[in-house]
Amino acid sequence: MLVNAKEMLVKAKAGKYAVGQFNINNLEWTKAVLETAEELKSPVILGVSAGAGKYMCGFKTVAAMVDAMVESMGITVPVALHLDHGTYEDCYKCIDAGFSSIMFDGSHYAIEENVAKTKELIAVCEEKGLSIEAEVGSIGGEEDGVVGMGECADPDECKLIADLGVSMLAAGIGNIHGKYPENWAGLSFETLDAIQQKTGDMPLVLHGGTGIPADMIKKAISLGVAKINVNTECQIAFSAAVREYIEAGKDLQGKGFDPRKLLAPGSAAIKATVKEMMELFGSVGKA
Ligand code: 13P
Repeated sequence: MLVNAKEMLVKAKAGKYAVGQFNINNLEWTKAVLETAEELKSPVILGVSAGAGKYMCGFKTVAAMVDAMVESMGITVPVALHLDHGTYEDCYKCIDAGFSSIMFDGSHYAIEENVAKTKELIAVCEEKGLSIEAEVGSIGGEEDGVVGMGECADPDECKLIADLGVSMLAAGIGNIHGKYPENWAGLSFETLDAIQQKTGDMPLVLHGGTGIPADMIKKAISLGVAKINVNTECQIAFSAAVREYIEAGKDLQGKGFDPRKLLAPGSAAIKATVKEMMELFGSVGKA
């Protein structure tokens, strides 16, 4: 059974570790992430972007697949199914589809409208038992056509949104989606520190988990980050492993063209990446 992300993140914040949100793209992806979480006894959040939802034939298909997989794979660790960077409309679609958690990305609205829509969605989520993430200060880079400039969040605005009653808060602190450029200035720990001081126990979310050096991840966790989103890292590992298989001509040997064989190295690479991240985030054994 799916659970919302509230309890796992409250525990993570108190225990000074972070739960990984790993974005999924298909059945193999989901299976690899769930298997790793179960093997490592780690709680996990499966992230679904609008683009990935569309690719997988809609949020209903995703929710039905994940729900059935959790049951048929005998998964015992807490699993949350979370809409990543949801529009107002997609939030409602995911609530209806059976997701256990949503992110309302109202960062592009004026603050008044962001507040009004966030409040409304919080009330719906509370009634239906979902967790809800909000974002303050846009996260840079490009993800599924959503382009952010990457400005740092205003700690007072963070407090304002946190006080509305969201379950977790994403704040821009110089992080971006996708690969970091050579001249990236790094995370702004002063901003993070100011946000955590204003928001207290609120679990903070770090987007753009791909390519952030391990010491910065650890420092971010020590300053209140309890959820870290990872997407690109698994994609890079998956494609490199499948390319290696094909370049070695293995798809031409025997039944190497069988998709279950062809995609197996990709799945193994996702598992290795997720394991590495869960170890770094400190969530191993916390289920
Ligand atoms: P990356 O693709 O940079 O890992 O970011 C993932 C993310 O933040 C999803 O919301």
